[in-house]
Amino acid sequence: MCKNINILAIESSCDETAAAVVRNGREVLSNIISSQIDIHKIYGGGVPEIASRKHIQKINQVTDEAMQRAGLSFNDLDAVAVTYGPGLVGALLVGVAYAKALSYSTNLPLVGVHHIEGHISANYIENKNLEPPFLCLVVSGGHTHLVIVKDYGEFEILGRTRDDAAGEAFDKVARAIGLGYPGGPKIEKISHNGNSEAITFPEAKIQDAPYDFSFSGVKSSVLNYLNGAKMKNQTINEADVAASFQHSVFSVLTKKAISAAKEYNIDKLAIAGGVASNSVLRTTIESACQKENIKFYYPSPIFCTDNAAMIGVAAYYEFLKGVRHGLDLNAVPNLKLGER
Ligand code: KG4
Ligand code: ZN
Repeated sequence: MCKNINILAIESSCDETAAAVVRNGREVLSNIISSQIDIHKIYGGGVPEIASRKHIQKINQVTDEAMQRAGLSFNDLDAVAVTYGPGLVGALLVGVAYAKALSYSTNLPLVGVHHIEGHISANYIENKNLEPPFLCLVVSGGHTHLVIVKDYGEFEILGRTRDDAAGEAFDKVARAIGLGYPGGPKIEKISHNGNSEAITFPEAKIQDAPYDFSFSGVKSSVLNYLNGAKMKNQTINEADVAASFQHSVFSVLTKKAISAAKEYNIDKLAIAGGVASNSVLRTTIESACQKENIKFYYPSPIFCTDNAAMIGVAAYYEFLKGVRHGLDLNAVPNLKLGER
């Protein structure tokens, strides 16, 4: 019988302090997340300085809890993994320094993980038969990428956003409507009471880059609509604005993902990142996939937004490839996907 590989993973790239233990890349033994949303929402968005301070306060407790829930001791582990980029530098440094200290004191190998590789890898947790190659639409607060996952840890980026990430656009539009932070879940919630065809917001097309995205146009268009209505003293139906904005963003994401799958002849499409937890995005892409005979994969919402289980999954495949980082590992805030 093969020996189990148990990895303790740490994630602190943004505003969740998270630790998880993952066995053999696909079995989550524990997944602890301490969210800072309640503090950041007072300021209407994430405050990097506060994020770092909260991480340093929580990281020990979160890691202890992850180990306890997994029922393991450090002797049962095979590696310590940590997100080392991209993300907020101060926030990343907390996780990196903590993981390095653990690796040093326990003699366990250290594996640095790319945050987006983690998001993509979240799909492996509940889809035990999913293996590369497949196409993945990554939609988070910081990134919007259309990627071919050629192999574990090997990526070809077909397109990316030219300006705002999809989640960022949700957060900014939510703030303009007065819904608060984080915007994505709030827009999803009120959209259920709105008409997605009430207002037509534009879908950006980018010349010569069919798989690139742009969301600043639709965001500005929502802001103009809101300002125009205020100036004319018209009442604004927030649910209609939210539903129409959401429809415009999801329509462009779906069209581009499906057309890339067809062009590159890939019959598996996965989604990843915080926005992938949106149920309307899932049903929209799912029905488009059904029409084209494409298999559709998505993680449960808890594995879509930031968590450490996804980092443990990505770390397992990096570990199998022999990737090890030294105690000179640093945070890399603009780390490129596929870079090591
Ligand atoms: O992946 P994530 O947790 O963090 C980053 O790596 O950025 O993504 C957070 C983003 C935020 O912009 C948030 O508003 C968005 O994901 N989000 C959603 C939903 N839940 C979170 N967007 C749309 N609908 C949702 N249900
Ligand atoms: Zn993320």
